[in-house]
Amino acid sequence: MKEFTLVSGTKIPALGFGPDEYGYTPHPGKVHRDLVHRAFRKLKRVTIGYPRYIDSVAAAFRTGYRLFDFSAAYGDGSLITKAIKKSGVSREEIMITTRVSNRAQFNGKIEEELQRQLRGFQTDYVDVLMFHWPVTDHYEDTWLKMLELKEKGYCKILGVANCHQHHLERLKEISGVYPEIDQFEMHPLFTQKSLRDFCKEKHIQVEAYSPTARQDDRLMNPPKLKRLAQKYNKSITQIILRWHIQHGVIPVIRSLTPVHQREDFHIFDFEISSEDMQSIDDININARIRYDPDNCDFTAL
Ligand SMILES: NC(=O)c1ccc[n+]([C@@H]2O[C@H](COP(=O)([O-])OP(=O)(O)OC[C@H]3O[C@@H](n4cnc5c(N)ncnc54)[C@H](OP(=O)(O)O)[C@@H]3O)[C@@H](O)[C@H]2O)c1
Repeated sequence: MKEFTLVSGTKIPALGFGPDEYGYTPHPGKVHRDLVHRAFRKLKRVTIGYPRYIDSVAAAFRTGYRLFDFSAAYGDGSLITKAIKKSGVSREEIMITTRVSNRAQFNGKIEEELQRQLRGFQTDYVDVLMFHWPVTDHYEDTWLKMLELKEKGYCKILGVANCHQHHLERLKEISGVYPEIDQFEMHPLFTQKSLRDFCKEKHIQVEAYSPTARQDDRLMNPPKLKRLAQKYNKSITQIILRWHIQHGVIPVIRSLTPVHQREDFHIFDFEISSEDMQSIDDININARIRYDPDNCDFTAL
């Protein structure tokens, strides 16, 4: 697997994997409040849902993914620990990322939340600690607390997520350092050129979440990407993931389908020409599919 080098000299895989929380669905169904229904759903979750989720995540580790993406907002990590064990890959081989939830930023219980995560992951450190969102009036204190947690040995690398340039500058102003990583939404519909340029100048590694815009039709159907897929004998998803990496960005893909996981992993045996890179850049329409950190309700995320 290709790797990038962080400003501290640490090597990091060029492709990340994030399964999101168990049961994640972009279109949640009706919430059943009836007791019997809830008990049935719980039984189904424990007997069918959890084992399937664990199997899928284990398959990703077996395929070779080593940069793992998670958040306290997604759960306590115990299902992931089972997946790691099931995969036969050792914990030390996996770079575990987790994030401070907005809830912990609001209630100040950041250390307690991280300790819960560590218990869930059955480990005494995570590799990368980020905050999930730059929660207004809280993210500066969160960052200072994260620096303390790093000093205590809870994590090796500090990153952030969803930070614009002004957030990054503020963090540098209050602490004297930039985070090593900023993870934000990026894909060909939303290329984030100026933020990426800023990060490059400040040696901040970019990670792209929603790297395929969750397979948005506007990305999966245009003839231009279909032609490129044909030209390189790859799928559109593979072309997009490769485009990220050639921009020096780490795409963090979600897939619970092992055949997709394998497809997404096999992107290191071809190179997109600079002309074709430019034509993918030109798809940009500045369309976010997720939230704008400068204009969202942090209590709902
Ligand atoms: N920091 C943040 O605020 C933040 C926000 C959002 C996401 N994230 C992270 O980024 C990760 C990925 O983002 P995302 O889930 O929003 O977007 P995404 O990875 O662009 O899209 C995920 C979707 O793509 C499908 N997919 C993956 N590979 C495929 C393939 N080869 N062929 C067909 N479909 C494929 C998956 O379905 P299958 O499961 O069927 O393959 C899934 O429905 C998350 O899991 C999370 O770790 C972070």
